[in-house]
Amino acid sequence: MSDELVVVAIDGPAGSGKSTVGRRLASSLGLDYLDTGAMYRSVTFAVLAHGIDPEDEDKVAEVARRMTIEFGPSGAVIVDGVDATTEIRGPEVSRSVSVVASNAAVRSELVSRQREWATRRGGGVLEGRDIGTVVFPDADLKVYLTADPAIRAGRRAREVTDLAYDEVAADLARRDAIDSQRQHDPLRKADGAIIVDTSALSIDDVVDLLIKQLRPDDGEH
Ligand code: DC
Repeated sequence: MSDELVVVAIDGPAGSGKSTVGRRLASSLGLDYLDTGAMYRSVTFAVLAHGIDPEDEDKVAEVARRMTIEFGPSGAVIVDGVDATTEIRGPEVSRSVSVVASNAAVRSELVSRQREWATRRGGGVLEGRDIGTVVFPDADLKVYLTADPAIRAGRRAREVTDLAYDEVAADLARRDAIDSQRQHDPLRKADGAIIVDTSALSIDDVVDLLIKQLRPDDGEH
């Protein structure tokens, strides 16, 4: 990347540890953090709130172009001025978000907002599915996080307490399949990304490993 822009791109399937690792890494590096999945979830929330069919590509794209998405200081997500932090993680949004994320016009709108977000603040840690492949292929560090499917489902089930493990595991498997097989910007490891399997690692282990990748000279003096 350019001298001024420091970008860390983290991609991987749901439950691989992207959000926790991304937040911790950003705070260790003094960078801002962007959860791009929350942006696709916000579009889905707005689409459902307007009573629009998530499969209606043109109407969904129009919503994406017009809406505002703001991030509050403590992780709040404000959609068109309304606090949607809880709703964007709920089962209705989770069921429809993969369809909305398959919409090429939505992706193009959100990718340009994500690039603008990072450029405005001199870089950042961004996490999602296409950050290293599409949004910032020249990122300073590209990471592909993964973990055993049963471990990923267990992590998600602990986050969403109102659903049973089996339901969470089935939803995760369905979304993994759509996200990695869709036509536009499917989830895949970016060229040059390091793969980290977080199944048996603590968050601190992963964050330390990534900081060493980004700053190999630290700690040697
Ligand atoms: O990380 P998450 O589960 O909150 O992501 C929600 C959905 O958005 C997920 O099904 C994949 C999609 N997504 C995407 O297509 N591209 C991104 N950069 C981030 C998320």
